[in-house]
Amino acid sequence: MGFPHVRMRRLRVGSAMRRLTAGTRLSVNDLVCPLFVCPGENIKKPIPSMDGCFHFSPDTLLREAQEICELGVPAVLLFGLPLRKDAQGSEAWSEDSAVCRAVRAVKKAVPDLLVITDVCLCAYTEHGHCGLIRDGKIDNDQSLQCLARMALAHARAGADVVAPSDMMDGRIGMIRQTLDEAGFSETAILSYAAKYASAFYGPFRDAADSAPAFGNRKTYQMDPAASVRQAMREIALDIEEGADMVMVKPALAYLDVIAAARQRFDVPLAAYNVSGEYMMVNQAAKAGLMDRQEAMLEILLAIKRAGADFVITYFAREAAALLNG
Ligand code: PBG
Repeated sequence: MGFPHVRMRRLRVGSAMRRLTAGTRLSVNDLVCPLFVCPGENIKKPIPSMDGCFHFSPDTLLREAQEICELGVPAVLLFGLPLRKDAQGSEAWSEDSAVCRAVRAVKKAVPDLLVITDVCLCAYTEHGHCGLIRDGKIDNDQSLQCLARMALAHARAGADVVAPSDMMDGRIGMIRQTLDEAGFSETAILSYAAKYASAFYGPFRDAADSAPAFGNRKTYQMDPAASVRQAMREIALDIEEGADMVMVKPALAYLDVIAAARQRFDVPLAAYNVSGEYMMVNQAAKAGLMDRQEAMLEILLAIKRAGADFVITYFAREAAALLNG
């Protein structure tokens, strides 16, 4: 039976009806706020490539984290910048790194806020790659040791969740084993399982000063043209190795991957609404081409509708304030 008995517009008649019949809900509980932490004190420096984002020293980051927690956002994701870069990225596993200092400060003063840390060498190595280099190539297996040491340093500092974003093979298993042997069996792993070599990371590489000095990341991050089946293999392997939660990244050009992962796997699924996706909206809004807040909410809803359980987004603070209001 169709028109005129059926009229789809009956369900759109007013805001109450639309709210009642909405299949997708967005709340502050769905958001994770990424933050950048740098060495030093009393620093809150705007990041030129990312509107509304800052480099925080551990002390100012603590104040920011407090406010984010008060807004009801359950978690922050910390990215660190080092004092010094070297070939191995050794500051990545220093217990005195800006990230470790920030984790200790936040967990002490705001224990209810979940602290997730990004585990990757690219901001710490001189060459800007996510793993170690030998003979001009990424040395996958040697890199695993460094990544595991980094995850362990974060766990020791009190991180609730470590999130490896390097895309080396075998890192989840190595990190799980290292954490367990050191007595950190309760530290969870959020794996950047299906992470693509994407142009949408452009603004972030400026923010984390992590652009590769030579070549690109195509030998470790996934090819955007790879089949969705390949993404499912990546995710399945990470779950087998011990990932508690998995991520698809970026989000918007990969909603099909999010939807497929949602159907196939039972672990919590995250999606990363990355820096380029964030800045496209900001720039378009600045140019008067669209409404910033409407575009923000539409994007976050779409990522949830595709099947993500939570969204890592630079909009988190603003979206939370709006959703609370
Ligand atoms: C580090 C890392 C990147 C992002 C998160 N972790 C950059 C990259 O892989 O080049 C991108 C995040 C964003 O663009 O918002 N490996």
